[in-house]
Order: sequence, then C-alpha cells, then structure tokens
Amino acid sequence: MSFLTPTDALQIDQATTTEGTVTWQSPSNIALIKYWGKRPVQIPANPSISLTLGEALTEMTISYKRKSPEQPWIIFRFEGKEESSFAIRIERFLDSIGSHFPFLKDLELTIDSHNTFPHSTGIASSASSMSALALCLCTIEQRLFGTLTDEDIFYKKASYIARLGSGSACRSVYPTAAVWGDSSVVSGSSDEYAVHYHDIHDIYASMHDDVVIVSSTKKSVSSTAGHALMDGNPFAATRYQQANDNLAALLASMKSGDLERWGDIVEEEAMTLHALMMCSRPSYMLMRPNTIACIDALRAYRAESKVPIYFTLDAGPNVHVLYPDSYSEQAQAFISEVLMPLSEAGVVIRDQVGAGPKQL
Ligand code: PMV
Repeated sequence: MSFLTPTDALQIDQATTTEGTVTWQSPSNIALIKYWGKRPVQIPANPSISLTLGEALTEMTISYKRKSPEQPWIIFRFEGKEESSFAIRIERFLDSIGSHFPFLKDLELTIDSHNTFPHSTGIASSASSMSALALCLCTIEQRLFGTLTDEDIFYKKASYIARLGSGSACRSVYPTAAVWGDSSVVSGSSDEYAVHYHDIHDIYASMHDDVVIVSSTKKSVSSTAGHALMDGNPFAATRYQQANDNLAALLASMKSGDLERWGDIVEEEAMTLHALMMCSRPSYMLMRPNTIACIDALRAYRAESKVPIYFTLDAGPNVHVLYPDSYSEQAQAFISEVLMPLSEAGVVIRDQVGAGPKQL
C-alpha cells in the first residue's frame, strides 16, 4: 500500500497551495471484541471490532499556512482555551509521523478542538480526537498535493495515522462498525489500519450505547500501562486465541441478527478485559462497586423482562449499556430508574451507533 511507505515526495515546494482551513468532526467508538495487548508500534495482539458512536464527537479545525521562523509550529486550543501541554504532545506526535507528511514541518498549524461530550466524565476522547486529527492531516495533504483522491486510500491512511496516535482511534474513521487487526475471517483486514465492516444485520446499525458514569476519577492504571502488562500476563496466549475465536463467532451473530449469542460474547469480552487486569502482575482493578451493581441489576432485569439489553466495559469503571432501538422505551425506563441512581451525580451519556466522521 503506497501510503505505508514513507515518502519524500510531499515537500512544501511541490505544493499547489499552502494556506487554508480544514474541519472534521469525528466520533468515539466502543469495542465489542477488545484490543488489549500490543507490540511496537501500536500493532494489536489480536483483532478487534467496534461500533462507531454518533454523539460522542470531537470537532477539530486546523488552520495552516507556511511557517515563518519566529512563529511556533503548533498552537492548540481545547474548548477555546490555549493548552500548551497538549500542544507539546501533538508536536511530539507530528514529529513521529513526519515521514508520512514531510510537508508538515514547513507549516504553522493552529488547532482548535472541541468535544460534544462533557469533559471529566471518564469518557476517553483519544479515539475521537486522534481520528479527527488524522482526517484533518489527510485532507491537508490532499489539498496541497492532489493525493489521496481515492476514498478507500484516504480513509486507510487516516486510520493508519490515527492508529499511531492512539491504537483504537483507527476504528473511528468509519461509519457503523470497523475491524482492526489481521484476521482470517475478515478479508482485507490489517494490523496497520482498520477497515469498514459492512456485513451486519440492521439491528446493530441503530444499536444504543448509554454510558452510566460510575466514576469520573482518573484511572489508577492507564491503558498504555495496561497493554504493557499483557506482556507478563500468564493468560496472554489463551486470551489472544479467545479474541480470534470470539471475533469469528460475533461476526456470525452480527450477520444473522442473533442478539442473544451476540450479547453473550460482548459481555464475555468485557469481563475478560477486566479479569486480565485483575490477574496482571501486579494486579489491579478498574471496576468500582457500582460497576458490579449495574451489571447485576442489568442481568436480573434482562432475565425477568426478556428485553435484550447487554453491557460492555472499556478500560474503566463506566458501564456501556447496549440495546436495540426497538426496545428503547423499556431499556431507557430501566436505565433511568435503576442504573442512574448507581451513577456518579446521575450522569448517563446517551449515544447510538452513528454515521462516522464528517468533514464540515
Ligand atoms: O487505544 P487504547 O490504547 O486507548 O486502548 C483501548 C483499549 C480498550 O478500549 C480497552 C479496548 C478497545 O479495543 O478499544
């Protein structure tokens, strides 16, 4: 794939224009089969699949112009406020991907980033922000050099760059569902970038994901540290095999619309992710007492009501509640009455599978 090979061709002196503004809105995603464990550089230990969210978005605008020597390379504003610590992190990242965008070092970038979901709710914004950044960079390349005109290559490069920024972000550049990681059951799949996954029953394309915020406190162990602990985890090899098997089984249930089978696998993945944390060396735990209370209540309600409502978890204490659109009324009443009182400050963020990123 041409974009995988670093190129010297994209130098600023070859550009047809050097000034402009670009805006992308890009969503977060929720993994059903979890990516947990990696090798350098951001290569996943197993394939994963996610649903793209519709409401949890980053909107990023980049204004670019030819750099003058006395100006800073990057100005970064988050929610309208200049954030120099973020600017330094972005500079470091852009430096690391310089071989893919050689022209960047000659541009001055003013980046404005805004999230549609509330800050400090424990919702990770790295997937939405890194995918928005990658999409903006690809559009800048396209405008300056007339490259990336093939839509498939454009999104693959955006996904590839987003992956280098934050692994799971690579799945956010597609609508509905995306697979990341080489898998024998998904043709065209790759460890280097995610691919759009189409072969799913309609029921999943409008699935709800309401996130019960159990705690917004900063995690005691970061995802980066958690991935690294998989290297010494005695169950790692078994886990990677399980993820491959679960992906195959999950895809079958997504094609047929077998919700019960789907929910079983999704919940097994969430529990396995947290079990892996608990048996890491050293061991740690990100679930809080109310995470377990929510899971118990949800399972009891499902058993009694027969409403197909399931949960998944990220690397954190908050509970993602998944249910089909046709059960919205019952599921939302249950969430408001039973789960919301278990949340921190009554915060439940309502979301639903979405149409993917949008250039504004
Ligand atoms: O992309 P990272 O490094 O933040 O890791 C994400 C890990 C999980 O959210 C737990 C699983 C996943 O596949 O998104």
